[in-house]
Amino acid sequence: MGSGAAAGVCVQPADASAAERVRALSLFKGGFLRDPRTTPERHATSRLPPPGASGLPLPGRGGRADIQEEADPMTDRECVELLQWAAPRLRLRWEGFRRVRGQVCKRIGRRLKALGLPDAGAYRARLEAEPSEWDVLDALCRVTISRFYRDARVFEVLRHDLLPARLESLRSRGEATLRAWSAGCASGEEPYTLSVLFQLGLEPRFPGVRLALVASDADAGLLARAARGCYPRGALRELPRAWAERAFPGPGDEPCLAPEFRRAVDFLQQDLRSQMPDGPFHLVLCRNVAFTYFAPPLQREVLSRLVARLVPGGLLVIGGHESLPEGDFGLTRAAGPLPVFARTDV
Ligand SMILES: C[S@@+](CC[C@H](N)C(=O)[O-])C[C@H]1O[C@@H](n2cnc3c(N)ncnc32)[C@H](O)[C@@H]1O
Repeated sequence: MGSGAAAGVCVQPADASAAERVRALSLFKGGFLRDPRTTPERHATSRLPPPGASGLPLPGRGGRADIQEEADPMTDRECVELLQWAAPRLRLRWEGFRRVRGQVCKRIGRRLKALGLPDAGAYRARLEAEPSEWDVLDALCRVTISRFYRDARVFEVLRHDLLPARLESLRSRGEATLRAWSAGCASGEEPYTLSVLFQLGLEPRFPGVRLALVASDADAGLLARAARGCYPRGALRELPRAWAERAFPGPGDEPCLAPEFRRAVDFLQQDLRSQMPDGPFHLVLCRNVAFTYFAPPLQREVLSRLVARLVPGGLLVIGGHESLPEGDFGLTRAAGPLPVFARTDV
């Protein structure tokens, strides 16, 4: 398990130069490894059509603020239409972006400006003409919101019930390692939460056990931030206070995670649609990525592959607002209404 067991680029969090290597790869390799947000943009002069020229309503255009943001080449509606058209081609579902589209639309707007394109229609034409632009759009569509201890009730049930039961059973078999995977780990908030929970919440009760944690994400820029391990205080607000004080001892607005909480985590750059670590895992966190943004057929494919990477009785955690696709995937609920499932079919 871990870096050796999986295809993809591995970053050890304590190794800043490795993080830089991932970043450099993302800039030079192209394809899914490309991170256009870190690519210098060509600044074009605005070639906006006059207001209303697109024939669509004008939300967000025409007011004073809009004069300041005159260079914004897309209305919200144009962006929505672009996403509705493009998402299926990326095996994504537009509905997942509905509530969080602001972040994505802003990025696409910046991309249009960088390319000197006047509107969403011109961007569609660019996509049709240049297949490599789809990789750029794909990367622009990644929603990056995360925080420590997100969905606190899930971490509480893991800490008090589900993981102690798993550790008891490991111990009874003479095993000492809990293997876990955070899929779509953003800047490390989720895997580091698990690392802190394990060390401060579980190790004192189960001395001698260890956590081996793989964390994967498609986005090299986020993985570089994860490797750095420093966060605005707002990202820590749900973490139990005593743990936050232990894990982030430094002063300032952007404290850094203490080294002992980083050691358990191996970061991998992988696209969940095509790559996964081998496993098997006792615990997989796949929250606010596949079951929000992926198209239903892809959700089913990914779910089958996730389940195949769980040990018998292994746990799958999804996001608080997500549900699993219909069908028998060999899972049962493991924590009442909370989005935690256990593998049953083995
Ligand atoms: C909304 S964040 C969720 C982060 C964390 N799991 C949580 O719930 O707080 C979604 C993450 O999934 C990543 N992501 C999106 N598409 C992906 C893909 N195809 N493969 C791997 N990671 C992906 C994004 O880069 C982003 O970091």
